[in-house]
Amino acid sequence: MSGKSSRIPKFYRFPPEERLRIVAEFAGLGGEEVELLKKTGGLGLDIADRMIENVIGTFQLPLGIAVNFLINGKDYLIPMAIEEPSVVAAASNAAKMAREGGGIRTQSTSPIMIGQIQLLGVKDPYSARFEILEAKKEILEKANECDPVLVRLGGGAKDLEARVVESRVGVMLVVHLLVDVKDAMGANAVNTMAEAVAPRLASIAGGRFRLRIISNLADRRIVRAKVRIPPKAVGGTEVAEGIVEAWAFADADPYRAATHNKGIMNGVDAVVIATGNDWRAVEAGAHAYAARTGRYKPLSRWEIDGEGYLVGTLEMPLAVGIVGGATRTNPLARISLKILGVKTARELAEVIGAVGLVQNLAALRALAAEGIQAGHMSLHAKNIAVMAGAVGDEIDRVAEILVKERKIRVDRAKEVLEELRQRRGNA
Ligand code: MEV
Repeated sequence: MSGKSSRIPKFYRFPPEERLRIVAEFAGLGGEEVELLKKTGGLGLDIADRMIENVIGTFQLPLGIAVNFLINGKDYLIPMAIEEPSVVAAASNAAKMAREGGGIRTQSTSPIMIGQIQLLGVKDPYSARFEILEAKKEILEKANECDPVLVRLGGGAKDLEARVVESRVGVMLVVHLLVDVKDAMGANAVNTMAEAVAPRLASIAGGRFRLRIISNLADRRIVRAKVRIPPKAVGGTEVAEGIVEAWAFADADPYRAATHNKGIMNGVDAVVIATGNDWRAVEAGAHAYAARTGRYKPLSRWEIDGEGYLVGTLEMPLAVGIVGGATRTNPLARISLKILGVKTARELAEVIGAVGLVQNLAALRALAAEGIQAGHMSLHAKNIAVMAGAVGDEIDRVAEILVKERKIRVDRAKEVLEELRQRRGNA
């Protein structure tokens, strides 16, 4: 992929077929893959029927490509599956700003997931905790017997922790199995291991086990992203300062922090979904992490550095995989991964973190400057024009007038369409 640039000016102006041709060339997609993307409904009913239960059809989302992404010196085209207008354009736009500061830098921890085993009826929980930690080697070996392939790849159960937790039903001992899941999201591997070691843990503790399940607060599987942008790239020093003020609002007020993080998740989820990953797991992890101090906080931070540059950093858990589950069974997810060209789950997670950070930049920049509605209006107006019956080039013409008049309503769109057709009829 080296030498290929994701900086594709006016990408949004091309028709979908031309965009697909450009992406296919960038990512080396084959004819079959291109055909699958072209025909809406690339996920066939037969495959869908094997993915979940009681299937009656498939449910589609638009798949867009965000351009301009330079992450750790490498160019990426970003597939995003999302229903909300403006998100893909905003990501592309903000990635261009980040590019002016040399792009986005990322880092990540090893992909460690936590399996929880709940032990109840333990008379002496602190003593039991000691004995369980003493048996660490035996427990890890037992867990690793479940997944020799993962162990061969260098992953598997690596460590054990035990917490004494007070609860409404008395004290419980909660054992954490820390598993390096490598390129998987990891739920299957971790749940299997947790179930396998639970009886032995209960017997060591002199109690009984109940739940044996992964934790979605994946705080050992963290991604960080950073951008450092010259203020002129965001519209000047005042806008840069406005972005910092917007962040400070979120930092001080959970009501704003929720919306701030929603903007980050616009980008994160769109890639998580496009790559066939479990977005509920990522969402649960993100918000639990945002609240880890006992107060809900933004996942990103914005500062101005000593040289007047705008600096943004993001830190969040990202449990995503490139093997197993829908990442493999859904052919469209496989194609998204190919477009991204990521080689490991860590690389995918870092790319998603980078998208989250610039998506946040786009939202804060718009909010701090012209307001969010301006960007939304033009696509919204096009949708309204279509609802009013506009076709072909009528859509753009009607939308333009609606935006100019700031009356983006179906009734007005119908009138404008009528007038346009009359004018054309008379011409
Ligand atoms: C809309 O989907 C997302 C925003 O509300 C995010 C934000 O307010 O930061 C624009």
